[in-house]
Amino acid sequence: MAVATVAALLAVLGGGLWLAARRFVGSRVQLLQGSGDPGLMHGKTVLITGANSGLGRATAAELLRLGARVIMGCRDRTRAEEAASQLRREVGQAEDQKADPDAGGAGELVVKELDLASLRSVRAFCQELLQEEPRLDVLINNAGIFQCPYMKTEDGFEMQFGVNHLGHFLLTSLLLGLLKSSAPSRIVVVSSKLYKYGDINFEDLNCEQSYNKSFCYSRSKLANILFTRELARRLEGTNVTVNVLHPGIVRTNLGRHINIPLLVKPLFNLVSWAFFKTPLEGAQTSIYLASSPEVEGVSGKYFGDCKEEELLPKAMDESVARKLWDISEVMVGILK
Ligand SMILES: NC(=O)c1ccc[n+]([C@@H]2O[C@H](COP(=O)([O-])OP(=O)(O)OC[C@H]3O[C@@H](n4cnc5c(N)ncnc54)[C@H](OP(=O)(O)O)[C@@H]3O)[C@@H](O)[C@H]2O)c1
Ligand SMILES: *[C@@H]1O[C@H](CO)[C@@H](O)[C@H](O)[C@H]1NC(C)=O
Ligand SMILES: *[C@@H]1O[C@H](CO)[C@@H](O)[C@H](O)[C@H]1NC(C)=O
Repeated sequence: MAVATVAALLAVLGGGLWLAARRFVGSRVQLLQGSGDPGLMHGKTVLITGANSGLGRATAAELLRLGARVIMGCRDRTRAEEAASQLRREVGQAEDQKADPDAGGAGELVVKELDLASLRSVRAFCQELLQEEPRLDVLINNAGIFQCPYMKTEDGFEMQFGVNHLGHFLLTSLLLGLLKSSAPSRIVVVSSKLYKYGDINFEDLNCEQSYNKSFCYSRSKLANILFTRELARRLEGTNVTVNVLHPGIVRTNLGRHINIPLLVKPLFNLVSWAFFKTPLEGAQTSIYLASSPEVEGVSGKYFGDCKEEELLPKAMDESVARKLWDISEVMVGILK
């Protein structure tokens, strides 16, 4: 009996050490921008949706550090202002510790209200932005909602399709003129590998016949990729590029709608701590596509860990992409 207990203890201890080793010396993602040119984004204006949390927050921090004027498009002003003042402190402190204070200098953060689950909010946000901002160099469609219970947006769209795809579709359409006049400019779309399990079921885009929350998340992320490819085609010759990425599995607030049983929670936390990326690691591809000279002129591509990746045929289907585009225009009411 005692032997078994000791063996079990050793196994737990060994497992813990192994996990810790993986966490700290394993094949972690390289922080490409960790030593990036501090002035790289100086004079550039970047809009990031959902910039108060997770990947968006980490992306905002890094682009701020690289000198950009970062507009945080967030649905909750209080949460966003809180994130903004934390980021200003973090980036400011790093700035103060720099050996050469003249090298670059951080940019600035601006909070603006944007609820992608409301077309009215998207329109109001864009109207204000177009009035106030003389230029827009980078748009990062990052905000997202994951496997929520069945909900509808203000305009009656299934929530995941409405926020992840349609809200960003309208946002991008309304800002395209400014992006074009600021060219060369970039659009970065945050999708997910889970797109593989989705399909664009045109006959039930609002999931009124049946709702499967994982299917609908995957479908919205497939829509992100089809949107990117169709937009890239439409933007040829404009010097506005658009690329899409998957960040990997990242420890963020995305799982807020997933109920993990209380007893399993410690195990889940341990596994996510050991194996999931940190937000800064997960944000590397967004930062890369937004700022790196390496991807200048590259458009319509799918990236993971800062490298181009292959897509499944269903994500490259041009006729589905066009049909989705046309239907999205009707749904958000911008059909000319
Ligand atoms: N984490 C991962 O493992 C993973 C994997 C693949 C893809 N992704 C993608 O990465 C992106 C960022 O997610 P995250 O992991 O950083 O999750 P997160 O921490 O939950 O951040 C999501 C952000 O989106 C915002 N948002 C949600 N609904 C919105 C709405 N209606 N209007 C405006 N903003 C809204 C959230 O605002 P509130 O804070 O106010 O709710 C939050 O700022 C998502 O597109 C997600 O699909 C993440
Ligand atoms: C929901 O969708 C996922 C992914 O598309 C699929 O694997 C799963 O079997 C579906 N669940 C049900 C209950 O249909
Ligand atoms: C795109 O950029 C190239 C190189 O800077 C420039 O020659 C060209 O005129 C630009 N095209 C447009 C449409 O702005």
